[in-house]
Amino acid sequence: MNEEPFDAAAAYRWSLSAEDRARLPYYDALVNALSEAEIGRTLLEEARPEQRNPMLVLAALHYGALCGDPVLAPLYDAIGALAPGEFASRIASRLEERPDLVRRQLHRATQTNEPGRSAVLAAVLRVLKARDVDDIHLIDVGTSMGLNLYPDLYRVNVHDPSDPSVLVIHDLNGTVRSGNLPTVHQRIGIDLNPLDPDQPDDVRWLEACLWPEEPHRNARFHSILEQMRQWPRAIRLKGPAVQLIDEAVSSCSPNATPVIFHSWVAAYFTPAEQREFRARVMRHVEAGAIWIYFEHPKSVPGLDPPPSATDSPRKGGSQIVVSEAGAEPASWGWAHAHGRWIALTPPPD
Ligand SMILES: C[S@@+](CC[C@H](N)C(=O)[O-])C[C@H]1O[C@@H](n2cnc3c(N)ncnc32)[C@H](O)[C@@H]1O
Repeated sequence: MNEEPFDAAAAYRWSLSAEDRARLPYYDALVNALSEAEIGRTLLEEARPEQRNPMLVLAALHYGALCGDPVLAPLYDAIGALAPGEFASRIASRLEERPDLVRRQLHRATQTNEPGRSAVLAAVLRVLKARDVDDIHLIDVGTSMGLNLYPDLYRVNVHDPSDPSVLVIHDLNGTVRSGNLPTVHQRIGIDLNPLDPDQPDDVRWLEACLWPEEPHRNARFHSILEQMRQWPRAIRLKGPAVQLIDEAVSSCSPNATPVIFHSWVAAYFTPAEQREFRARVMRHVEAGAIWIYFEHPKSVPGLDPPPSATDSPRKGGSQIVVSEAGAEPASWGWAHAHGRWIALTPPPD
């Protein structure tokens, strides 16, 4: 979040990266239609400042469809059969008619819990393991439903055979590269609103946050929810990260290194919160913790992102930043916001 005057039309236009626009024609058309429609801009402006993210409006519309709205539900079901422009203009008309469909959901937050980001985390943890970080406690800040608390239990296929640049979590039956990641002891998730996999409405909201043109993400989400029942339970702390980070780190037993991780979370902090969060985390890093984050650098000025020797290989990439115990944050490369690809360039040990 930044302090410049808010431009809703521009926010829609920038909400998807160029590569996502190219591969998601329906959402591409929809963000264009919402940026042009007065009601689309008005609703985004009505969201509280830290949630003026077009993804909130997209998720609210999708939620309306999942709840069976008689106009939206058939439109979302017709993805692939209808032309993208028609899909988008009919949704914009429905919004004109029934703005309450979105307005009623504006109290929520974009909580997209993207397990593809665990693939990015796993890639960093593998390097740390090679540098003798054998035992960790994982603290996932902005954990949503906690899907990124298990990088060691997912099977990560780093190079998809159909596209070597795609980094995917391929399936969930086991551990990939077992033995190559540090052992995770405690798992702690912090969130303003931790979501519960046993609450149907929480599950539906996360389904709504997924993009309807990517049905594999929905299938993967449900597969993970099933698997999670067998996985070690995580501790969940509810409240602002800035207030809870010290408690989370001090609750870790001294037998392992605390790893503080966050992906697409600090962008929702105010600049002052970002600065305070950084200062608190850096005190833990000085005391031996490791800090790994994955955010768009322009959205987190208060974290003071380090310079990167290389640009993102594709426009709109998120920066991977790592601060090893006792050291300043360093850029370790770039990845797609959902972990579809990674360009990891860790500095020499
Ligand atoms: C876009 S989601 C990302 C979720 C998860 N980190 C991931 O990458 O899949 C952002 C999450 O951060 C949480 N969040 C936002 N501001 C927060 C704050 N000040 N303190 C704690 N959690 C926060 C939201 O509730 C939401 O679950």
